[in-house]
Amino acid sequence: MSASMKSQLVGVIGPAGFGGSYLSVELIRRGHKVVGISRNPQSFGTHQSYTPRSVDIEAASIDDLATSFRDLEVLVSEYGPHTQGADALKYMPYVEVVRKLILAVKLAKVEYFVFVGGAGSLVVPGTHESLADYPSFFSAYRRQMAMSEAHVQYMEERLGPIGAPLRSYRNARLAQNSGTSTAEDIKTIQMYEDSIRKNDRASEYIKAGRATLLFFEGNTSFPWTFVSPSPLYRPGRRTGSYQVTVDYVPLKGEQQGEDALDGRLTGISAVDLAVAIVNEIEKPRLMHKHWTASADLSDDTSYPSYVTAKDI
Ligand SMILES: NC(=O)c1ccc[n+]([C@@H]2O[C@H](COP(=O)([O-])OP(=O)(O)OC[C@H]3O[C@@H](n4cnc5c(N)ncnc54)[C@H](OP(=O)(O)O)[C@@H]3O)[C@@H](O)[C@H]2O)c1
Repeated sequence: MSASMKSQLVGVIGPAGFGGSYLSVELIRRGHKVVGISRNPQSFGTHQSYTPRSVDIEAASIDDLATSFRDLEVLVSEYGPHTQGADALKYMPYVEVVRKLILAVKLAKVEYFVFVGGAGSLVVPGTHESLADYPSFFSAYRRQMAMSEAHVQYMEERLGPIGAPLRSYRNARLAQNSGTSTAEDIKTIQMYEDSIRKNDRASEYIKAGRATLLFFEGNTSFPWTFVSPSPLYRPGRRTGSYQVTVDYVPLKGEQQGEDALDGRLTGISAVDLAVAIVNEIEKPRLMHKHWTASADLSDDTSYPSYVTAKDI
C-alpha cells in the first residue's frame, strides 16, 4: 500500500484455504485489516490485523450472512470445497452458496465484492465456448499440469485421489519423453487420457464455477468483479508481475496441431494472483468485469498449498 492509500477492512471468505490464505497474508503485509470468515477461521493463526469470524456460509441465512458482512469495506470470496477432499468437488452446494452470497452482499451494501471463481468460465478465443465446455479442455489441462512437479505435489497434497493417478501419469509421460517407457507406461498414459476424456473427476465442480458467472454478467445492481484464476493456478514463486485478460483464456504460442489448447494453457501462482487481487482492491479498474491474471510459472519449485499468519 502506498502512503496515499488508506488501509481497508477486507473480509476474506476462506482465509485458511489455498487462495484465501495467500490473499490474507498479502493484504496484511500491505497494511490492510482482514476479517477471516469461515467455519474455522482461527486456523489462519493470530495477528493484530486479523480477526476471525466464525460462519458456516452453507448453513447461514441470507440475513445472517449480511450481518457478518455489514462492517466490511470489501468482501472477497475465496470459498471452495477442496479442503474437504476430492469427493467434495460437486455442482452443489457451490452454486447455491454463491447465489446467497450475492443477496447478502446487496443487503449489507458491501462497497466491493471480489468473487474468485474458476478458470472454467474463461472463453476460448475464436469461440463462444467456455473452457469447462470446450471438448479438449480437460485433456489439455491435465497434460500440462502433469509436466509440473510443483503442480503434481500440490494436487497430491490437496486432492489425493486426483493427485495419485496424476503422479503415475506424470511418471509414465516422463519415461516416454526420455525414451525409456515400458509397455506398462504406455498403458498408464492411454488409460489416464481415456478416463479424463470420458469424465474428469473435477468437471462437475468446474462447471458449477462457470455457471455462477451468469449471476454476475451484465448485472450492475451491485459492485462486483469476477476473477477467474488462469488454469494452471498453483502455489509458486512471487514474481509480482502478471497480465490481465478480460473474459478470454490467455493462450501462449501458436496452435501447433489440431487442438487449440494443447500445450498453450497459462497459469499463475497463488501469491501472484493475491498481488493482482490486492492491486484491484486498492485501485479498482475491473468493476463489473470477468477477468483472469496469468504470470511466469517457469520456476517449478514446490511451495506450500496453505500459508498462515506466521508467514506475514
Ligand atoms: N485453476 C482454477 O481455476 C482454480 C484452482 C483452485 C481454486 N479455484 C477457485 O478459487 C476459489 C477458492 O478456492 P480455493 O481452492 O482457494 O479454496 P479452498 O482451499 O477450497 O477452501 C477455501 C475455504 O473455504 C472455506 N469453506 C468451505 N466450506 C465452507 C462453509 N460451509 N462455510 C464457510 N467457509 C467454508 C474453508 O474454510 P473452513 O474449513 O474454515 O470453513 C476453506 O478453507 C474457488 O472458487 C475455486 O473454484 C480455481
